[in-house]
Amino acid sequence: MSILRIDSSANTTDSVTRALTDRIIAKLGDTDVTVRDLAREPLPQITHTWAIARVTPEENRSDEQSEALAESDKLVAELLAADTIVIGAPIYNFSVPASLKA
Ligand SMILES: Cc1cc2nc3c(=O)[nH]c(=O)nc-3n(C[C@H](O)[C@H](O)[C@H](O)COP(=O)(O)O)c2cc1C
Repeated sequence: MSILRIDSSANTTDSVTRALTDRIIAKLGDTDVTVRDLAREPLPQITHTWAIARVTPEENRSDEQSEALAESDKLVAELLAADTIVIGAPIYNFSVPASLKA
């Protein structure tokens, strides 16, 4: 079983949600764990180029548009490849962190 672990708390030292994801991962006891730490390695926000690229047929995309989609395509593939997804998410201002939405 492959697990995708996503941590989204900005707090990297005393985080409650990171402690919870630690415990869940330990209980699942699987060695095939991919980690996405959105505080230590933030994802880019979407841009105009990305927004236009995603509705442009692949054969008509410029190099810049293809590049803009490459990272999100990789992230989607990572998500789909996982059997189990463990998400650590605090509530920030009545919602999930912007880093997780990205
Ligand atoms: C900027 C900020 C905004 C927050 N907004 C909310 C909120 O709207 N509702 C809530 O219940 N808790 C809110 N909290 C509290 C956090 O969700 C809570 O402390 C959580 O355990 C933090 O997770 P962490 O310890 O993994 O960082 C907020 C915390 C911060 C730092």
